[in-house]
Amino acid sequence: MRSPKSAVAVIAMLVAACGAPAAGQQEKPPDKALVGVTMPTTKSERWISDGENIKRDLESRGHRVDLQYAQNDVPTQVKQIESQIGAGAKLLIIASVDGSALTKPLEMAAEAGIPVIAYDRLLRDSPNVDYYATFENFRVGIYQAESLLTGLGLRNGDGSPGPQPGPFNIELFAGSADDNNSVFFFNGAMSVLKPYLDEKKLVVRSGQTEFQAVATLRWDGETARKRLEEIVNTTYRRTKLNGVLSPYDGMSLGIITALKNTGYGAELPVVTGQDAELGSVKSIIAGEQYSTIYKDTRELATATAMMAEAVLKGRTPPQLNNLNDYENGVKIVPAFLLNPVSVDKANYHQVLVESGYYTDDQLR
Ligand code: BGC
Repeated sequence: MRSPKSAVAVIAMLVAACGAPAAGQQEKPPDKALVGVTMPTTKSERWISDGENIKRDLESRGHRVDLQYAQNDVPTQVKQIESQIGAGAKLLIIASVDGSALTKPLEMAAEAGIPVIAYDRLLRDSPNVDYYATFENFRVGIYQAESLLTGLGLRNGDGSPGPQPGPFNIELFAGSADDNNSVFFFNGAMSVLKPYLDEKKLVVRSGQTEFQAVATLRWDGETARKRLEEIVNTTYRRTKLNGVLSPYDGMSLGIITALKNTGYGAELPVVTGQDAELGSVKSIIAGEQYSTIYKDTRELATATAMMAEAVLKGRTPPQLNNLNDYENGVKIVPAFLLNPVSVDKANYHQVLVESGYYTDDQLR
């Protein structure tokens, strides 16, 4: 597992390597462009920081930024993008609510000659997406599953077989089916869990193991709470649930509420997460949530602002480090990927506090 420092190092290298115009491209003089930034929701801390960090970074480079949040509503996001196009935006940075629902505004952008960077979530089913900035999403899923196994004792932190032979009962959750990332997280996790399921060291007693059956619309914590309460009340009357694969902290907290509501207060199953949101990090420190995945949104925002700067100058962003994995249904979108970091009670201080992401005071 790489340390968060490696992401910083990658960006430093890329800054140093800030490329010349690609063959056949002409460098335009830098201008103070209007950049339209749309984010999915303010309901989750990460998107608030992502939006603010991109805005700050682009403004420090002299650009103007229109930052909008769609509150998880597709028509709202469509209107926001259309109005940014109408206002003369020179570039769009979009973290979509539904990755396949923006085909029309993306077409409008292309007609107006406005390049588009998909931010964290891939924009699907459209040729009009120029670049993609995100994290190693398959690896996020791998880390989630590995920490579930470690928490259960089936595996040691170093990957060797753990002290517990199993079998253990687990339930699976995936993110929103309209978010391309959800599939990557789930497939990454299942690549680790499948051999344990095949050997019956892990058992999903609800029988719900397919992506469509475990997907959670809009990553909603309440939806996750209700689904798990129903599963526990019907399937775990005589036997104990030992672990839950959760793809996102906002869902993990809903899942923990469901567990408490169904009698698991004293000894909670192992629950994973993602985003290192404040509530979940506090829950990890309190010994409730087991783990989360830290994705430094400051690094993603900086990398995206640097990509934006290159695109505005008519250059190919030098950051791109993945030209194969993000097929959007129409084309492969050239991407820049950052590394996620797995966090639990043992390393949260080193990863989150010593890196300056949170202060000790915030976590009290
Ligand atoms: C992001 C995750 C986030 C989830 C819910 C995904 O697209 O990659 O970091 O947990 O959305 O907001």
